[in-house]
Amino acid sequence: VPVFSQTATTPFKVATEPAFPPFEMTDQNTGELTGFDIDLMKAIGEEAGLKIEFESLPFDGIIPALQAGTVEAAISGMTITPERAQTISFSRPYFKAGLAIAVRDNNNTINSFEDLKNKKIAVQIGTTGAKQAGQIEGVELSTFDSAVLALQELVNGKVDAVVNDAPVTLYAIKTAGLKGVKVVGELVTEEYYGIALPKDSPYLQKINDALERLIANGRYQSIYEQWFGI
Ligand code: ARG
Repeated sequence: VPVFSQTATTPFKVATEPAFPPFEMTDQNTGELTGFDIDLMKAIGEEAGLKIEFESLPFDGIIPALQAGTVEAAISGMTITPERAQTISFSRPYFKAGLAIAVRDNNNTINSFEDLKNKKIAVQIGTTGAKQAGQIEGVELSTFDSAVLALQELVNGKVDAVVNDAPVTLYAIKTAGLKGVKVVGELVTEEYYGIALPKDSPYLQKINDALERLIANGRYQSIYEQWFGI
């Protein structure tokens, strides 16, 4: 009689919203998921003896999926916030980020968060950027399923600004996928990404231990350098 149990061959399902380069994206040639988060999660899987299987979900569907238990974890450039931590658990922080304001190159009137009052702003739905921008006085908010789509709306001249994670906006500008856009002002927030798990998941300790080892043995650093340079 075969005995079934949770072993290294049972898939460990990890959700991600895969249009957030360079954290998660689809490789144009292979169609496979790639990016900093993807490589880091694969390395964690190897360290922790978990067979990682990614599942793409809309960003605002990730926390509900964790709560429903249809996925075991999520890695998606997700900011650790006290509000989210009421319903899900987070690993130790694995990346320092923050929100940046992007405008078109020829815009000289928006130079700070203060200047966003009464402006049209595009954001990704369910994000910390959406929340910050939504609190601005007189703002007209357009929400999109991905940060890439929100940035495209700015390029197209349909909105005045985008509030989005700085590393993602800067990467889009640097890799020239995004033309005619610049980042202005100071970072709006300082944020830390964490791997998300269902509240009090039994895997939390395993994942934290694996992360610690990857940081200690230099593998985290080499993944970081691969995606962000030195
Ligand atoms: N860091 C922001 C947040 O937690 C945005 C994350 C968006 N991630 C993504 N894969 N689209 O709200």
